[in-house]
Amino acid sequence: MHVLILGGTSEARRLAELLHATPRLRLTSSLAGRVASPRLPPGEVRVGGFGGVEGLAAWVREHRVDVLIDATHPFAGTISFHAALAAATAHVPLLALRRPGWVPVEGDHWHDAGSLEEAARLLPALGRRVFLTTGRMGLAAFAALDELWFLVRSVDPPEPPHPARMEVLLDRGPFTLDGERELLRRHRVDVVVTKDSGGTATAPKLTAAREAGLPVLVVRRPPVPEGVPVVPDPEAAARWVQKRLHGSDFPTTG
Ligand SMILES: NC(=O)c1ccc[n+]([C@@H]2O[C@H](COP(=O)([O-])OP(=O)(O)OC[C@H]3O[C@@H](n4cnc5c(N)ncnc54)[C@H](OP(=O)(O)O)[C@@H]3O)[C@@H](O)[C@H]2O)c1
Repeated sequence: MHVLILGGTSEARRLAELLHATPRLRLTSSLAGRVASPRLPPGEVRVGGFGGVEGLAAWVREHRVDVLIDATHPFAGTISFHAALAAATAHVPLLALRRPGWVPVEGDHWHDAGSLEEAARLLPALGRRVFLTTGRMGLAAFAALDELWFLVRSVDPPEPPHPARMEVLLDRGPFTLDGERELLRRHRVDVVVTKDSGGTATAPKLTAAREAGLPVLVVRRPPVPEGVPVVPDPEAAARWVQKRLHGSDFPTTG
C-alpha cells in the first residue's frame, strides 16, 4: 500500500516516523519547498508543488497511491482543498490530520480575526509594538501599518512587501516559556498576533502574553473541506492507515 502524506508540519513527520517501518507499506512525504532546510521525515520525500488539483491527481495515479493523508498546516487551505478534489478525482480515500486549535483560558485577552487582512485592520486599536508570529508569507497584509513597530519571527528571512518598521528574528519552534517572557519584555511588546495554529511547540507565547496582560490577536483557521474525515493527532492517523492496510473497517469521521 502506498501512502502519500502531504506534510510540512511536525505531525506529518511524526506520522512518517510511526509508519515508515510498517511491512508492505510504501511511504512518501510531500513538502511544498517553502523552507530552505526543512527537517526531513523518514521514508521517501518529494519536494515542490504538484501543479494544482490535476497535477496532484495525476501524481496519485502515476505513483499508485492508495491512501492520501493531508497533514499540512491548519492554515495551508489551498493544498487541503486541492487534496479533497484530487482524492475524489483519483478515487483514493483521504484523511485530514489536524491538531486541535487553541482555546482561551481565564486571564487571556484574545481578539478574533477571520483573516490576516482583518487582523491588520484591528491591530492599530490594540497596540503599537507588535510581536507578529503569523509567518513570513503573510507579511504583506501588515505592510501599510507605518505607525506600528513589529518584531517578526520566521524560519527564513521575509521578503518585501513587509512593514517598514520591523526587526526580524530568525527562529523555529519549539519555544520555551522563559524565552517568550524574555522576548516580550526585552522588546516592550504590547500586542501579539498569531494564527490559531494549535499544538504545544508555539503555545508558550500565549502563556507569556497572558502573564503580561497583553492582548492577543488570533487569526482563525480556514475550515477543513467538507466531507473529509479528520483526526487530531499522528497516532490516530497511523491507526487509520493500519486498519486500512489490514483490510478492516476504517472510520469516516475523526
Ligand atoms: N500556512 C502556514 O501558516 C504554514 C505554517 C507551517 C507550515 N506550513 C507548511 O508549508 C507548506 C506551504 O503552506 P502554504 O500555506 O503556502 O500552502 P497553501 O497555500 O495551502 O498551498 C499553496 C501551494 O503550495 C503547494 N503545496 C502546499 N503544500 C504542499 C505540500 N505539502 N506538498 C506539495 N506541494 C504543496 C501546492 O502547489 P500546487 O498547486 O502546485 O500543487 C499548493 O497549491 C504546507 O505544506 C504547510 O504544511 C504552512
